[in-house]
Amino acid sequence: MDILFASSEAHPLIKTGGLADVSGSLPRAILGQRHDIRVIIPAYREILRHAQHLTLAAYLELEGVSQPVRILGGRLPGGNVKLYLVDSPSHFDRAGNPYTTSDGKPWPDNAERFTVFCRAIHALAVDAAGLDWQPDIVHCNDWQTGLVPIMLRETPSAPASIFTIHNLAYQGLFDWKTFKSLKLPASWWSADALEFHDSFSFIKGGLVFADWLTTVSPTYADEICTPEFGYGLEGLLNHRRGHLTGIINGVDYTVWNPGRDLHIPVQYNRRSLFHKTENKRDLQERFALPVDNDTPLFAVISRLVEQKGIDLILEIVPELVKQNAQLVVLGSGDSQLETALELASTRHPDHIGIHIGYNETLAHGIEAGADIFLMPSRFEPCGLNQIYSLRYGTVPVVRRTGGLADTIVDTTPETLEDKTATGFCFDKAEASALWSSVERALEHYRKPEYWAQIVDTGMRQDFSWKRSAQQYVELYTRVIDEQQNHPSFKKYVTQ
Ligand code: ADP
Ligand code: GLC
Repeated sequence: MDILFASSEAHPLIKTGGLADVSGSLPRAILGQRHDIRVIIPAYREILRHAQHLTLAAYLELEGVSQPVRILGGRLPGGNVKLYLVDSPSHFDRAGNPYTTSDGKPWPDNAERFTVFCRAIHALAVDAAGLDWQPDIVHCNDWQTGLVPIMLRETPSAPASIFTIHNLAYQGLFDWKTFKSLKLPASWWSADALEFHDSFSFIKGGLVFADWLTTVSPTYADEICTPEFGYGLEGLLNHRRGHLTGIINGVDYTVWNPGRDLHIPVQYNRRSLFHKTENKRDLQERFALPVDNDTPLFAVISRLVEQKGIDLILEIVPELVKQNAQLVVLGSGDSQLETALELASTRHPDHIGIHIGYNETLAHGIEAGADIFLMPSRFEPCGLNQIYSLRYGTVPVVRRTGGLADTIVDTTPETLEDKTATGFCFDKAEASALWSSVERALEHYRKPEYWAQIVDTGMRQDFSWKRSAQQYVELYTRVIDEQQNHPSFKKYVTQ
């Protein structure tokens, strides 16, 4: 199969969150199954600065863009996956993050930037870029690629499309004026297409028009069909439930493996777990916390946003201090949460260490050095850090939602008995519920034989991409087949 994989970020070129981890590793796993998969992302300044061996693959004249857009060709670092960069300097060659200015505000021209990106993806998908290559299917990810399925739907003999929802909370909503300024077909402003409560919704272009929808865990696939998690899109998602599949994310164990991790002071594996102690000491020193192997060390690595339940963690800080535990947090985001965390660290310097910012090396050091990883998310489509934690022998405490529910087995007498326990789970998004699972974790931490078993079971878990990549390949095959053999299938949504 020939597959075009479209995403707004891909590790190690550019990353703001888990989407980059997935876009950097899933295509490699699919290439490993002998399919021609090529990744397309915008040529952000940060990528142009660091990327090597780029060639000029094509020039595109795109509607609504005054300068020609260049398609640069290369390879995704760390493998052999072909890469296309959409180089439109006025849209992507700027300081700051792919979506926001340096002070965290969305770029005012985001709708225009990602419309240009979608038009470029569409041009490659229909072989209008002069590359002499046409995919059988386009795999779109998140709202930034949402206009591609609707564009393909309007193009005769276009490839099939699938659209993966990594996070339904981000929908790419803009106003009517913006819609009009983009000179998109007027008929797209309709409740059956891109209009959503008087707004212009990028994500609807994917949700309504892609041939198949996926999301990143089976539980989240169920959750988004309910009012609690559906953001008003649950009706549409229920309508498409027969064409919506939850496929759990895999992780890249060449990047996240304590046995080979060059970011951490001392490598270790299940059989040399005693080296984890040295990583713990290093982590306590880095955060200027008292160095003591017996003190339970909790950790958080996260975007600091409402989704992640950081406020619940702030609420349990006094209890953690009372229990003489330590907590290190690495993250950035909401300035109120940043300030509150910094304040907690100033008040309790021997217990709480905070690093505001984005730091990949430190993220690995934290996974290696901590004892317990906290992820009390209000919702979590998949979540990757709890899976990395398992491999690093850092026991996750998670809220039972989305991918957290699908990847972590709660510790109970039964799961200890049958040796399946890997972490601690709680249900209510409340500090008291979080605290009671933290207390359970602390009780087990103090019983070394139980703790060693939970750690060991976690480290044995295999969330490599093999199985999930296979599920994507089966889905691509099915969707391409349905499109080719049942042409009426394509029309079912709009009829
Ligand atoms: P999300 O995509 O919702 O942010 P995930 O758990 O899927 O959540 O993925 C988050 C990814 O981003 C992980 O690889 C995590 O290590 C990384 N990450 C988050 N915040 C930081 C940070 N401040 N510094 C370094 N890495 C971070
Ligand atoms: C989103 C979700 C996260 C998921 C990631 C990769 O950012 O918030 O749960 O792991 O995408 O799919």
